[in-house]
Amino acid sequence: MLSSDNQGRSIEFLDDVISGLSMEQKALSPKYLYDANGSALFDKICELDEYYPTRTEVGLLSERANEIAKLVNGQHLIEFGSGSSTKIRILLDAADGLASYVPVDISREHLLGAAGSISSDYPDLEVIPVCADFTKSFDLPDVVDNGTKAGFFPGSTIGNFSRNEAKDFLSMAARMLGEGGGLVIGVDLKKDPRLLQAAYNDQQGVTAEFNLNLLTRINRELDGNFDLNAFTHDARYVNDKGRVEMHLISQKEQVVTISGHAFNFKQDESIHTENSHKYDIAEFHDIGRETGFEPSQTWTDSNELFSVHYLKVAA
Ligand code: AVJ
Repeated sequence: MLSSDNQGRSIEFLDDVISGLSMEQKALSPKYLYDANGSALFDKICELDEYYPTRTEVGLLSERANEIAKLVNGQHLIEFGSGSSTKIRILLDAADGLASYVPVDISREHLLGAAGSISSDYPDLEVIPVCADFTKSFDLPDVVDNGTKAGFFPGSTIGNFSRNEAKDFLSMAARMLGEGGGLVIGVDLKKDPRLLQAAYNDQQGVTAEFNLNLLTRINRELDGNFDLNAFTHDARYVNDKGRVEMHLISQKEQVVTISGHAFNFKQDESIHTENSHKYDIAEFHDIGRETGFEPSQTWTDSNELFSVHYLKVAA
């Protein structure tokens, strides 16, 4: 028997899949790429030679850890989409006297597991996990709400949002962090499209497996019959939209059934599965200013592949 929570989630998953595959341009939300299998594949992606973002961001955070720690010391440190709480350790190692660490994640299981291991590794740190979908507004516990707050949003997860959704998120974050607060955020940069092309079309085919796993997940959880050999991974940089798009391409005309609902695919028809938006530093600063922040610090690697920003909440 499914818990009511899980049942609610899988009904939402089915509704989203049915409406997504009923659109003129078929599309599925990237959040569904990250089941246990997808998360493990994403971890593998982060280790690939071609996938520069993780390694570059971890390098920047490590180099600047003391500087960043000074900006957040004494505050409640809220991580949006904390997952396994790996990168935060770089800041926790350098910080002292944080008021608390507040991991926010939609997956209760991951959240509590990660919060537990942070607590045992940092015994003096108060850890206050919050189970919530950070893409919508959510309530903070009073102790956190009443104190000064810093946000942490690494990994260029903001790239999954459209430019408008990114602005909505940042406006929400500025309101939530409030006076005296700030946000440490990792943002992938625009660059030679050949590097982007390689990063999302790795030689080993791990990204392809990650993308196709969405169909495996639909087959398993929603009683679907996608033929995994009849779809292929496609990722391309779309210059006028400033983003990498991932698609799954139907290799033939076919009908796929999901929980009794039939969907027709033409040969070469695609399902759009993820966007990964890329920014210029100046463009990102403008977006920060439009959403209630004052860009305060920007750190980037010597090749300008990736950026980490500290945005102060505007007075
Ligand atoms: C986790 C959204 C930042 O966009 O680079 C990596 C996801 N997709 N390879 C990204 C991803 C394919 C990743 N983000």
